[in-house]
Amino acid sequence: MFDNDEMDYESRIVASGYTPEDNNIELSLRPQRLDDYVGQEKVKENLRIYIEAAKNRNEPLDHVLLYGPPGLGKTTLAGIIANEMGVNFRVTSGPAIEKPGDLAALLTNLNDGDVLFVDEIHRLSRAVEEVLYPAMEDNALDIIIGKGPSARSIRLDLKRFTLIGATTRAGQLSAPLRDRFGVLFRLELYTPEELAGIIKRSAGILNIVADDDGALEIASRSRGTPRIANRLLKRARDFAEVFGKGVIDLESARLALNRLEIDELGLDNIDRLLLSSIIKFYKGGPVGLETIAAAIGEEAITIEDVYEPYLMQIGFLSRTPRGRVVTPAGYAHLGIPMEGQQRLF
Ligand SMILES: Nc1ncnc2c1ncn2[C@@H]1O[C@H](COP(=O)(O)OP(=O)(O)OP(=O)(O)O)[C@@H](O)[C@H]1O
Ligand SMILES: [Mg+2]
Repeated sequence: MFDNDEMDYESRIVASGYTPEDNNIELSLRPQRLDDYVGQEKVKENLRIYIEAAKNRNEPLDHVLLYGPPGLGKTTLAGIIANEMGVNFRVTSGPAIEKPGDLAALLTNLNDGDVLFVDEIHRLSRAVEEVLYPAMEDNALDIIIGKGPSARSIRLDLKRFTLIGATTRAGQLSAPLRDRFGVLFRLELYTPEELAGIIKRSAGILNIVADDDGALEIASRSRGTPRIANRLLKRARDFAEVFGKGVIDLESARLALNRLEIDELGLDNIDRLLLSSIIKFYKGGPVGLETIAAAIGEEAITIEDVYEPYLMQIGFLSRTPRGRVVTPAGYAHLGIPMEGQQRLF
């Protein structure tokens, strides 16, 4: 129905998910200490206490579960925890641990007190999860030796460790696994002021000059997400260097964001296409997810995980039992009059 050339998710500048292009900058921009981690004040406050208490007792930190949308700083925070505890940071992910033996190998190689970070922990298989339970609870590994009637289980002691799990979908975590975490932190979207702080910090590292207004302009179009803020900062630098004085001020920030077709609320072409398609072809909804996915040529799961959360958060889209509906605020933002097609509001 539409030409899809410009709608490739991988190259979408406001994608909150990780894209390969982020790799080189994310490493250098990632804060290493809790003091450099901007925002998430409640989380930081509690974490400081837990870390200090654990250190005083000379014990590893309790197992921690971090959850929240992509790009909010889960991986970053996990690394900071290991740094603040002064231990090694071992990284793996749910999909990477295929067999119980893979996890057993990781666990037996940990040093006393180490942090094992498991990204996308909701994607662990049941069989692998079973290995994790005694490890988290008793620092032990139950190994089955032999087969059939003569099989027996022996218990291996492990070093003490901290498991940090990260997930964008806490609801998909099994209850027994969730219950074994002593600390649960939910990361929240950042305010524009907090994002401006992150942008200024990043600008300093990247040797870019960004003034307060320029930083805030980028921040307010970054969907509450540090990863997007850092990405927009890099693009804004390009525009500032080519068209401006090399400084990111209000004018050059606006120029860059307008060129990138990112509006005042951080919506890009795909967001607007999603909303306008529902309005044009389905009278503003309700319309089923699969139908709208086919209409704009995106995968249903991508729409659900990537586009919808922010559109719903700013109140432009709502989910009803009969499907997706564009709200009056969504109409207003696109400048399309509501012609009485919806009586839901
Ligand atoms: N609180 C923060 N202060 C400063 N920079 C941050 C903060 N949170 C995140 N960042 C920056 O945003 C980038 C993305 O963060 P990170 O990779 O930790 O997100 P994530 O939640 O793990 O995302 P995903 O769900 O995709 O794995 C980091 O490289 C870091 O530079
Ligand atoms: Mg991550």
